[in-house]
Amino acid sequence: MANILVIESSARLAGYSRQLVGEFVEQVKAANSSHHFVFRDLVKEPIPVLTNDNVDIIRTHPDQITPEQLEKIAVSEKLIAELKAADFVVIGSSMYNWNVSASLKAWLDQVMRIGMTFTYGGDGVVGLLGDKPCLVVLARGGSYDTPERAARDMQQPYLANVLKVMGLDVTFAVMEGALMGDDVRDANLAKARAVIDCVAKTLS
Ligand SMILES: Cc1cc2nc3c(=O)[nH]c(=O)nc-3n(C[C@H](O)[C@H](O)[C@H](O)COP(=O)(O)O)c2cc1C
Repeated sequence: MANILVIESSARLAGYSRQLVGEFVEQVKAANSSHHFVFRDLVKEPIPVLTNDNVDIIRTHPDQITPEQLEKIAVSEKLIAELKAADFVVIGSSMYNWNVSASLKAWLDQVMRIGMTFTYGGDGVVGLLGDKPCLVVLARGGSYDTPERAARDMQQPYLANVLKVMGLDVTFAVMEGALMGDDVRDANLAKARAVIDCVAKTLS
């Protein structure tokens, strides 16, 4: 039995990332009914952005946080507990303005915490999530398959970086070309589904 955390961040409830994440969940459930799923929808239940009340506390080492301060970062504590409790994480991410959506960025700002999800070691940053497996389903309107186009992609490199910093072992399923006509879209849907299929089998 695995505890699977499912994070959705597309503003469009019928978008490709939600569709593909949904297919992954159904596939995993069909193969093994013992898994437990926790659904965290960052659009239906938005995560607050950091404010003057908590921005410095969230950058403080947990050993130095007072009980009063802890109350001000209760959202962060809850989201990190959810992340740590998961054996597997799946994230749906839509590209907005060449980056992740603001809803996903707000979640990342709450869960990326020194001494909680990453720390600094001799060789730099060290993730504290123990190389937890993570599937990230990307959806974007254009294609980023040439060096010129890839240079504008701030979504996949950004997520690869920050999720690795926390110690997540990420596999990407990329649904790109969503707005480039039916043929391109369908070919890319098939590619993304092939990756999702492989990853789903690891949980059967
Ligand atoms: C506000 C907004 C900004 C977008 N910006 C980009 C962009 O910079 N590059 C791109 O390739 N597609 C862009 N798109 C297209 C989406 O990435 C595409 O529709 C994708 O399928 C959205 O994910 P979803 O289907 O999971 O909702 C944008 C769409 C919206 C609504």
